[in-house]
Amino acid sequence: MTDPTKIAMHIDGEPLEVLPGSTILQAAHGAGMSIPHFCYHKKLSIAASCRMCLVEVDKVSKPVPACATTVSSGMVVRTRSEPALRAQQAVMEFLLINHPLDCPICDQGGECQLQDLALGYGGAHSRYTEEKRVAPGQEDVGPLIAMKEMSRCIHCTRCVRFGQEIAGVMELGMAHRGEHSAIETFVSRAIESELSGNLVDVCPVGALTSRPFRYRGRSWELSRRKSISPHDSTGANLILGVRDDQVLRVTPFDNEEVNECWLADRDRYSVDALYTQDRLLSPMVKVGGTWKEVAWEDALAVVVNGWKSILAKQGAAAIGALVSPHSTLEEQHLCVRLLRGLGSPHIDYRLRHAEFPQPERVRYLGMTIAALSSLESVLLVGSSLRRDHPLFAQRIRQAARKSCIVSGLVESREDWAMPVAHWMEAPATDWTGALAEVVVAVAAIQGVPAPVSATAGPLATAIAQSLVGRERTALLLGNAAAHHPKASALLAMANWIGRQTGARVGYLTEAANTVGAQWVGALPGEGGRNAAQMLEGGLASLLLLNNEPAFDSAAGNDALARLADSANTDLVVTLSPFRANLEYSKVLLPIAPFAETSGTYINAEGRVQTFRAAVRPQGAARPAWKVLRVLANMMELPGFEENSSEEVLRSLPGLRYEGTWSTDPARLGNDTTAALDPTSCTGKPVVASIYGLDGIVRRSPSLQATALATAAPHRSHATA
Ligand code: SF4
Ligand code: FES
Repeated sequence: MTDPTKIAMHIDGEPLEVLPGSTILQAAHGAGMSIPHFCYHKKLSIAASCRMCLVEVDKVSKPVPACATTVSSGMVVRTRSEPALRAQQAVMEFLLINHPLDCPICDQGGECQLQDLALGYGGAHSRYTEEKRVAPGQEDVGPLIAMKEMSRCIHCTRCVRFGQEIAGVMELGMAHRGEHSAIETFVSRAIESELSGNLVDVCPVGALTSRPFRYRGRSWELSRRKSISPHDSTGANLILGVRDDQVLRVTPFDNEEVNECWLADRDRYSVDALYTQDRLLSPMVKVGGTWKEVAWEDALAVVVNGWKSILAKQGAAAIGALVSPHSTLEEQHLCVRLLRGLGSPHIDYRLRHAEFPQPERVRYLGMTIAALSSLESVLLVGSSLRRDHPLFAQRIRQAARKSCIVSGLVESREDWAMPVAHWMEAPATDWTGALAEVVVAVAAIQGVPAPVSATAGPLATAIAQSLVGRERTALLLGNAAAHHPKASALLAMANWIGRQTGARVGYLTEAANTVGAQWVGALPGEGGRNAAQMLEGGLASLLLLNNEPAFDSAAGNDALARLADSANTDLVVTLSPFRANLEYSKVLLPIAPFAETSGTYINAEGRVQTFRAAVRPQGAARPAWKVLRVLANMMELPGFEENSSEEVLRSLPGLRYEGTWSTDPARLGNDTTAALDPTSCTGKPVVASIYGLDGIVRRSPSLQATALATAAPHRSHATA
């Protein structure tokens, strides 16, 4: 049956119905047909510069570029006719004039579109006898990207368009004219974007390559294993390229609803941390102030005997646990069950928080990640958007390019690489007062009584106006808002504005599994201490699951000093893939990081994503869920019988399985009963720097060599 909303046409004799406005290339791709192309990229604007996609169209005298020609009713296209093939071959011959044809040594071998298409569309002989052009490469553009072989460049400008349209920063451009045209860096002569690794993926020929991976392997040598990023709350889908039980590189796995085809640099490059000297390869126990490698049984015995003695002398209330929001759902769940089984209410994942309310439901983004790209207006409160959430920033940048009005309530304006209509700058201690102004302005526009007293300035009124009367609006709370001393008051006001304007209210959520940690209830029970209270010291034993309080907590170095005072805490047990917390731990248990274990993360939007181990754990490291289960077994706690992480996942309430796992939406929500309190406070929210977010990125040599890492300390306040 013919669809009246579509256009009927033919490609290579095949009748097709396509949406009006589609290009011939899109129509062909939609029907599973391929047309050779270089400069076209599904996420970038159309440049139509390479001409590789020339096709024949009936009643048109010359071949036309399929990527730039829109379909019309009754159009007849031939992609493999004699004129089309002749045009494509001519373009290929032209492209190869410049290319150095060094395929046998080129490190892009196996992943070069030019090589692939030259095979299908190139001639058997070259008529070119003149000397080839040699374009000088640039020696040093930073630790992540190599730009040494610019002779390979076919001037498709994908990299330039990526910078302008996706990363939002113009770091590369086409300089000079005619045969002197060249892709060069601008200004700083370095590539510093937090999304720079995507340049390697968009470059079709290997002119831009990954510096850490360069010459380390060929693509066909690598096994491809799917995984999920363990860093921020996007839950970016990854392909781990594995050889000899080692992850050599990370590339994106396309998921339109999550990361599209992009990765943040920390998703891509942090994996080199797994192969540093800092890996913990054997259990260790501190004896007489000296660390000694011991067998697993001996290390576990120290923990179990210690706990038994503490339970006998001081009771379960002397034991606590701090759980990383980067740990998997299974690890967090077993840690909660272990602590509850021991009888302790002291457990928390909110290491960088300053306020510790008992949340009504599981706090999350309040919308889908994909919906960020089509917002009409958004107010971001307390977010270092590009640093905290590089891929969410990219989504919001897409919305801004389609005229979304972006506003920010921040300590001081930052470069979000997008037009920001309204910057509301205020010290973090006054953010409640600033948001109260927006509340009052919204009340005035809507003609309802304001629930707080404040005087709305012109900026607050402009922000309020941007949120009223539009359909797709949002008020999003960033990491500094989540860690704020008055986080609940900010949320209460955001909710009030949301109810009045129809704006979605959500947290950008800090870590890969912040939502999961709430889901499993990694929160203090009745009478339990929160993270800040536990880090004040005083518990006889503290279990640190995959975190380093000196870097991962609001207390920072103060926590280090307090925990190092063994008069307070006798038995600190650290479960980590790295040699961490040496100053105050008594036992170090080596656990497998994300690439070496199976598990699950729930991302900001509440999406449950499971992954398998890509490689075997290094040394004597073991998956943390197994270590926690064994500890529970040795403590003779009932109910710890799971033999796989899947079994642990299945034991979790509120998750559904219909081919894939999903959350029960009723358990997600950002409601609060907190008061709308506009008064100011003391203390600043603590947020992580871009490459200080977790133990893996902190140990990545390539990320730590970037300008972004050297510019920001690992632990910072909102102003840094
Ligand atoms: S460097 Fe790569 S992406 Fe950029 S223009 Fe050249 S070939 Fe295209
Ligand atoms: S892909 Fe169409 S002109 Fe380059």
